[in-house]
Amino acid sequence: MSSTLPTYRIAPSILSADFARLGEEVKNVLAAGADWIHFDVMDNHYVPNLTFGPMVCQALKKHAVKPDGTPAPIDVHLMVQPVDALAQAFCKAGADIVTFHPDASTHVDRTLQLIKAEGCQAGLVFNPHMPVDVLEWVIDKVDVVLLMSVNPGFGGQSFIDSTLKKAEKVRRIIDASGRDIRLEIDGGVKTDNIRRIADAGADTFVAGSAIFNAPDYKAVIDAMRAELAR
Ligand code: DX5
Ligand code: ZN
Repeated sequence: MSSTLPTYRIAPSILSADFARLGEEVKNVLAAGADWIHFDVMDNHYVPNLTFGPMVCQALKKHAVKPDGTPAPIDVHLMVQPVDALAQAFCKAGADIVTFHPDASTHVDRTLQLIKAEGCQAGLVFNPHMPVDVLEWVIDKVDVVLLMSVNPGFGGQSFIDSTLKKAEKVRRIIDASGRDIRLEIDGGVKTDNIRRIADAGADTFVAGSAIFNAPDYKAVIDAMRAELAR
């Protein structure tokens, strides 16, 4: 990822979609211009909420197609503990990117290796209070850094501002590594703060309620892209 010309990605979180019509929701949000599908996996153990597993990911895979016919990456955010077995199961179920919280894995390097051995991209997720020190030791195996800008577990929460400072720090770490690593921000991302988040160094934006709670998904995604183009 070059710091001069970021290719921004918008990754709607289907956590805020209509669960009774998930396939249609995935298709509609991709037709509206989304880049990735963000898939929030919660186990009622690592976080106090429960969502969906690998079977739902597999069922949605055929719906994750962009209007030009190319597949849209499925970005699986694991909020589960333990991590390894589910990470592998999601890779087999069609995930393209699997991210997990390092504090939920006993052997972070091993978990990264497991995900990459399945042919997926691998990423680490940091909660708002978490330091990012571990990155230094595993950055050669990391494809995505996901910074939580809310405490994980629920959609519709307010953006925690200290994430901006952390994003600046991680941007410096990524640039120094010289590796092509995405910096993704998750939680409370809206049209009116996406520019500030990009200015802090992010290139990939998860948005759940901002998109799925709006009547016109395309209007929101277009407005976000207009902010990013400013
Ligand atoms: C929270 C999830 C987020 C969440 C984002 O645990 O990881 O992906 O769905 O939702 P909004 O955009 O509504 O904050
Ligand atoms: Zn998420």
